[in-house]
Amino acid sequence: MCYSIPGKVLEVADNFVTLDYFGEKRKARNELFTISCGEYAYAQGGFIIQKIPAVQAEAILDSWQELFFKLKEIDERLARDSKTLYQKANQIRQKYHGNSCCIHGIIEFSNYCRNDCLYCGIQHNNQAVGRYRMEVAEIIEAAVFAVEKLRFKALVLQSGEDEYYDENKLVAIAEGIMSQSPCLLTLSIGERNPDTFEALYRKGVRGALLRFETSDPQIYARMKPGHSLTQRLDLLVALRKMGYLIMTGFLIGLPGWRKEDIIKDITLTAELGAEMFSFGPFIPHPDTPLAGEGQVSLETALEVIAEARIRNPEAKILVTTALETMDKKNGLQLGLMAGANSIMLNATPRRYQQLYSIYPFRAGTDTEIESRIEFVIRLLQSLGRAPTDLGL
Ligand code: 5AD
Repeated sequence: MCYSIPGKVLEVADNFVTLDYFGEKRKARNELFTISCGEYAYAQGGFIIQKIPAVQAEAILDSWQELFFKLKEIDERLARDSKTLYQKANQIRQKYHGNSCCIHGIIEFSNYCRNDCLYCGIQHNNQAVGRYRMEVAEIIEAAVFAVEKLRFKALVLQSGEDEYYDENKLVAIAEGIMSQSPCLLTLSIGERNPDTFEALYRKGVRGALLRFETSDPQIYARMKPGHSLTQRLDLLVALRKMGYLIMTGFLIGLPGWRKEDIIKDITLTAELGAEMFSFGPFIPHPDTPLAGEGQVSLETALEVIAEARIRNPEAKILVTTALETMDKKNGLQLGLMAGANSIMLNATPRRYQQLYSIYPFRAGTDTEIESRIEFVIRLLQSLGRAPTDLGL
């Protein structure tokens, strides 16, 4: 089964295209292609990211037709109850987003980092971690594989804050991927010069994933020596101005964090105009100064998702790998049933996955990506979700 449903172009007006999905109309921005009515295309995050030949699209739509409506029914049925906080949030998710669930593949291309964030296992100070860097061509190859063979339509490239990848290298990566396998490309590379992000935007990168980690300036300064929250927020604001889709959020339960902070943290995420909210529980790493700290419960992490959904019906909310790590068997399902509607799957080449140890025992690093995808698609079907992101 596919990850995404192609839409039929009904209307083209300037940069906007109206697409039809079995009678549902959605809009998407088109910046990359010459496109006309009657053609078929994939949309992600509100952008047209690929055109698809009519014969191919019609075959995919044929195979979807029956399932599309069946999944909707299941989703509606499962969202009927609204007794608990999670159920309320799930109902709102269903009302505003229907059953669509977007899936991103993530490629972690380097675990070198110049920073010493106290919570992070790949911090510069940690001598115990084996370091790796993927070369430009290797990154492009992994991304092309993820789009062409694994059929991801949205990819996130993530690394520590690694200056080895200067602007030229990053631009070459973006150019290489977008020219061979266009997709919704997001970068998660920490703080860089705004000019570099401008250059990457020109090459077709449209997403920026950068968490602000905590809305408390004091906790921030303690956790990230030598850095300030203001500097981070300024960059996020600048990125949004450039046109980037912003994916941001915070760590739940950093030392000093109190439950009352949930609302402040969620509010800041919304104020930054985040297209996608990303909240992960802090999980202590044994080789960091925070090794002995406690962590929040799974219930608290789910409560954050539910609160965020109730307050921001239109946002995309991610089930983070950290949440899945807390309950490897049920975490994903619990997140999706507490208001989340986005997933990230690890498409990093197997030999590097264990080394990207921002926290220990990360979910998804012990299975082959192909079987992980199969598992996730089956889970989504059982919940009545369609693995697709239809656009606006
Ligand atoms: N537990 C959970 N998440 C972590 N991150 C870093 N260290 C940890 C940890 N110990 C998250 C940060 C960062 C993202 C890439 O990983 O929020 O932004």
